[in-house]
Amino acid sequence: MTVPDLATTQRAFLFADPAAHSLSPRMHGAAFTHAGLPGTYEARRVPTGALASAVAGLRAPGVLGANLSLPHKEAVVPLLDSLSDAARAVGAVNTVIHRDGQLHGENTDAPGLLAALRDAGLPDLGPGEPVVILGAGGAARAAAFVALRDMRARAWIVNRTLDRARALAAEFRPHGEVQAAAPDDVPWADTPLVINASSAGLNDPEQAPLDASFLARLPAGALVYDMVYKPAETRLMREARALGLNAENGLGMLAHQARLAFTAWTGADVPVRVFLDALGEEAGSGSVAGRTP
Ligand SMILES: NC(=O)c1ccc[n+]([C@@H]2O[C@H](COP(=O)([O-])OP(=O)(O)OC[C@H]3O[C@@H](n4cnc5c(N)ncnc54)[C@H](OP(=O)(O)O)[C@@H]3O)[C@@H](O)[C@H]2O)c1
Repeated sequence: MTVPDLATTQRAFLFADPAAHSLSPRMHGAAFTHAGLPGTYEARRVPTGALASAVAGLRAPGVLGANLSLPHKEAVVPLLDSLSDAARAVGAVNTVIHRDGQLHGENTDAPGLLAALRDAGLPDLGPGEPVVILGAGGAARAAAFVALRDMRARAWIVNRTLDRARALAAEFRPHGEVQAAAPDDVPWADTPLVINASSAGLNDPEQAPLDASFLARLPAGALVYDMVYKPAETRLMREARALGLNAENGLGMLAHQARLAFTAWTGADVPVRVFLDALGEEAGSGSVAGRTP
């Protein structure tokens, strides 16, 4: 496999719909500058019907690859030449790497989440300890992968639509102990980690994924990780902190998934702080709501 010629300008993209307010150009622009590389990163609105031709365009010389966001992370899979184990297991690709006309699919959301959980002070988990995942969409798939394959935890999936939680649990059962559950059936008192992978709170800061009464049942020192990153403190986080629990927002995951994609494209190891700093102004300005990663 040829290493990309990083002395000449190399291009990377985001394909999403919508894409206009993406934070990724800001993060990757800062990373190219930090690494001293003459690259560009451009967010393009790609409607579903245009995905195949946009992806085919990534095979051109001078293209490093692309990020995929809603609604393309699953639809891109059959358009690629190879997949990493993580992308195959999660069933979604957020990073395409181009080398010599070949396109390789990677999922950096899952390791990005794991890195962010560690930064947030993830408690040491024993095998089979409960991890609760709220939501059953694309982000919950990455969380289930991390809980089962990286942590060897027992995953409990709680979702507004229980049937979707059941379907996700059935799909991930080959990877470990996982089950769908109604909130009342979860062993909250033994749960050191709750991951909100639902979009509750994304467009309405006062919206929470479920009734907050479960928070009072969590053990001291539990971490509540909310993948939502605007507002910087969601209602879920606020209520968790009021009870003395550890709570973090999704900015760390956003920065880590971008860092891992950048390294996959360029080989450059840019510190996560560069990506977080690029987000910092936006995150603090209150204008991140509803944005595409
Ligand atoms: N920080 C990061 O880097 C990062 C990365 C990826 C995603 N995310 C965030 O993760 C969230 C989920 O993304 P996704 O791609 O998984 O979305 P998705 O595939 O559309 O799934 C959304 C999930 O949220 C649930 N939900 C929506 N509104 C709800 C509400 N009011 N109350 C309870 N549950 C609700 C849905 O339940 P139903 O099944 O009942 O509809 C579904 O399970 C978004 O906020 C996204 O921004 C963050």
